[in-house]
Amino acid sequence: MSQFCLPVFLVYFAACFLQRGACFPGGAPTDACQNLTPGHVNITANSSATPFTIMPASNTYQPGGTLRVQIMGASFRGILLQARDSTNQAVGFWSDFPDFTRSLTCNNSADSVTHQNTSVKVAGTNFTWNAPRNSPGDVSFVATIAMSREQFWTGITSDPVSGGTPVSLHLGATVLSLLNIILLTNWMVEG
Ligand SMILES: *[C@@H]1O[C@H](CO)[C@@H](O)[C@H](O)[C@H]1NC(C)=O
Ligand SMILES: *[C@@H]1O[C@H](CO)[C@@H](O)[C@H](O)[C@H]1NC(C)=O
Ligand SMILES: *[C@@H]1O[C@H](CO)[C@@H](O)[C@H](O)[C@H]1NC(C)=O
Ligand SMILES: *[C@@H]1O[C@H](CO)[C@@H](O)[C@H](O)[C@H]1NC(C)=O
Ligand SMILES: *[C@@H]1O[C@H](CO)[C@@H](O)[C@H](O)[C@H]1NC(C)=O
Repeated sequence: MSQFCLPVFLVYFAACFLQRGACFPGGAPTDACQNLTPGHVNITANSSATPFTIMPASNTYQPGGTLRVQIMGASFRGILLQARDSTNQAVGFWSDFPDFTRSLTCNNSADSVTHQNTSVKVAGTNFTWNAPRNSPGDVSFVATIAMSREQFWTGITSDPVSGGTPVSLHLGATVLSLLNIILLTNWMVEG
């Protein structure tokens, strides 16, 4: 389910978004993650290279902190954006929504961002992601973005960002030694 739900949801959302207000002019619906019927829509995502890039402001995040995530490349009208961990779960939550966008609760409160309406969102629009306090490890930002009725792209994925200083007090010995190796490696690279 976890590998299946979100990608199908994104395609369904995007295809539906393009039906000129028939489906989700006000953003993706809250229950769409669980009620997917991918065979019922013609999927016409643009297969050419996406003009969009998802640019996190940093390649690390602080557990419990915020990270600015910018959509570069072109203006757009529709969006569904999430941070996903290595098991494909949406993690963290979004806040400080730019014009014409809003939160969407898929599994957890505000774990996704969608459009509020079809007004143009400028290129360079910034979203604010709040990382969980317990680091979910490496996270990538994944989106479906629609420019117009005919032009939308699915599966737009950022470079991964890694969790900064872990806050968990429950690390096992194995994790601790792994952590030491990572810290040592970072030190060697940075030094
Ligand atoms: C939502 O939760 C279900 C059940 O735990 C999981 O299978 C699914 O992958 C989750 N979806 C997202 C987008 O996190
Ligand atoms: C899907 O596309 C085909 C060919 O363009 C068309 O005949 C069919 O009616 C479409 N189905 C839906 C549900 O839009
Ligand atoms: C979107 O919402 C804003 C107000 O929040 C409004 O000014 C604008 O006209 C709306 N755009 C559309 C296409 O409905
Ligand atoms: C997004 O944030 C960056 C850095 O603060 C800023 O330079 C840029 O103008 C912002 N984009 C928009 C559309 O406001
Ligand atoms: C896909 O995107 C390209 C570049 O924006 C555009 O030229 C082309 O017409 C699009 N194709 C479809 C089927 O929308």
